[in-house]
Amino acid sequence: MPEFDLSVDICGVTWKNPIATASGTFNFRESSRYYRVSDLGCITTKGVSREPWGGNETPKIAETRSGMLNSIGLENRGVEMYIDHDLKPLKEAGATVMANVAGHTIVEYCSVAERLAKTAVDLLEINISCPNVKEGGIAFGTDKTAAAELVTRVKKVSGAKPVIVKLSPNVTDITEIALAVERAGADGLSLINTLKGMRIDLNTGKPVLANGSGGLSGPAIHPVAVWMVYETARVCRIPIIGMGGVMTGADALELMLAGAKAVAVGTAALIDPVAPTRILGELAGLLRK
Ligand SMILES: Cc1cc2nc3c(=O)[nH]c(=O)nc-3n(C[C@H](O)[C@H](O)[C@H](O)COP(=O)(O)O)c2cc1C
Repeated sequence: MPEFDLSVDICGVTWKNPIATASGTFNFRESSRYYRVSDLGCITTKGVSREPWGGNETPKIAETRSGMLNSIGLENRGVEMYIDHDLKPLKEAGATVMANVAGHTIVEYCSVAERLAKTAVDLLEINISCPNVKEGGIAFGTDKTAAAELVTRVKKVSGAKPVIVKLSPNVTDITEIALAVERAGADGLSLINTLKGMRIDLNTGKPVLANGSGGLSGPAIHPVAVWMVYETARVCRIPIIGMGGVMTGADALELMLAGAKAVAVGTAALIDPVAPTRILGELAGLLRK
């Protein structure tokens, strides 16, 4: 671990360093076999909804050149199970935790935020950008009026918990949505979620993913993330958590130079479970230099 202070303040919450896990790519039981989860700046957990949600049909992941497609959907056991079985062990292990919040409707998002406001969770990340659920999610992330309305309502029930809004790259101009949610009271932004994509199996002539399309992540999207963070940082004042294809400390630093205050590691951790701590070490080395 770095021997100098790398801590960052994200909306009033101190992260001991700027490296987080990206939502949906972290598993406590597996990761804690390899590193202390409290060594990272923040652990972002998988999207959680009011009631349990089932997942999409398999196959729901496919490799691509320089990345992967997933159509996991927001499969989860609901907020009550999350509090007891996901949040509790992470807090006991000393982690700073950001809960990724999902919903089909504003009321559903608000129920989760209100419930989590009474827990030890440190930050809320409102996912308005999942390309793999039919209602909610991306429907808010591609409409600035709907996104702003959602944030206004969530802020009314989230108490003292900072509200970070996770933005989709699947829009014409990400800064429009970013500015709309900032004006509506968002405390921070995280970007980018996956880019919508598809692969077709030449033998069947059908899409590889049962869902048809999925979300592209990994190294292929890193330059898109750098550009979108850069554009957003030019117009917004609230802190940005950058993500998208971060495989090395250099990739993380690039996002920070573009304007991110912290960086999350997603797909890299699916290839190599210690990627978040490796990337943290590499970032520290580059900063020292
Ligand atoms: C398997 C998988 C599951 C994901 N689940 C979620 C999720 O539940 N909520 C969310 O906001 N983003 C989710 N994401 C998106 C990531 O958090 C991240 O924004 C995206 O993958 C880009 O980062 P990366 O290229 O480092 O993976 C998921 C990504 C993957 C690959």
